[in-house]
Amino acid sequence: MSNIPKNKLNLQLIQDNLTTHYIGQSFYYREEMDSTNKFAKGGAESLKDGCVVLCEEQTAGHGRKNRYWFSIPYKSVCMSVILKPNILPVKAPRFTIAAAVSLCEVISEFFDDCYIKWPNDILINNKKISGILLDCTIEGNVVKYVTVGMGINVNTPCFENELKEIATSLSCEKGTEFSREHIIAKILNSLEQNIELVYSDIGFKILMQKYREKSYVLGKVVRIIEADTETEGEVHGFDEHGQIQIITRFGNIVTFNSGDVSLRY
Ligand code: ATP
Ligand code: BTN
Repeated sequence: MSNIPKNKLNLQLIQDNLTTHYIGQSFYYREEMDSTNKFAKGGAESLKDGCVVLCEEQTAGHGRKNRYWFSIPYKSVCMSVILKPNILPVKAPRFTIAAAVSLCEVISEFFDDCYIKWPNDILINNKKISGILLDCTIEGNVVKYVTVGMGINVNTPCFENELKEIATSLSCEKGTEFSREHIIAKILNSLEQNIELVYSDIGFKILMQKYREKSYVLGKVVRIIEADTETEGEVHGFDEHGQIQIITRFGNIVTFNSGDVSLRY
């Protein structure tokens, strides 16, 4: 990686563009980490609510089920936000919804066709530009810490590897580089506002309405793969826990949790 120019993130520039009250009021930055999510989860006890963990290079960046997450030092954005919400575990997936809406709101400033592929992918031009990984620390019956991990292909060059058909970046689509600092600040500003909507049922209804408007799969026929079982049907909607509802060809509505399933379309 020695031929990559080291345009390190300017944390002051991020902070100067924040309008938040607690998210991004503290940062933890290292050039290299195994994974920002892993670091954030491990250090949550001593890090403040809203602390943002950032690095340039992840040596073990991952998505769900420990699948590899690809990033390029000084080009991609790898960040995790620590939250200390004290909510019931059943409500934890709401944070993925808030992050997805925020990422899509910000990316939509540059691309009209930004959509959310349930549960945790952000697409432009039908390709994945960002993914979300939520890690929760549960104690007793409450979620003590939530780590909202976001990988965003900002200035990543057009993919030439095995992800070529499914992944893209802001710079690849626009042919120009973006300020990672401004993108990060916009995401954090939006995230704080959308997270406010997670805590009340009325707020969550508003958040879900925004989510539906940006859904890539609503009304489409999809397959949900869960271990060895596949269920095909039209996406009917999403429930109050962010679970997906599918109408099968027999007319039944079946609900799936994001936990262990994959969605294909
Ligand atoms: P599923 O297809 O099962 O719903 P997913 O797309 O949400 O899963 P994860 O299980 O979270 O994916 O794993 C991350 C996946 O993202 C990898 O398997 C790989 O296909 C893809 N990926 C990895 N790095 C990038 C990247 N930088 N940009 C876009 N996609 C990536
Ligand atoms: C997905 O595509 O489904 C999730 C990908 C999440 C990647 C981000 S990068 C920052 C944080 N650290 C990780 O190891 N994963 C998340």
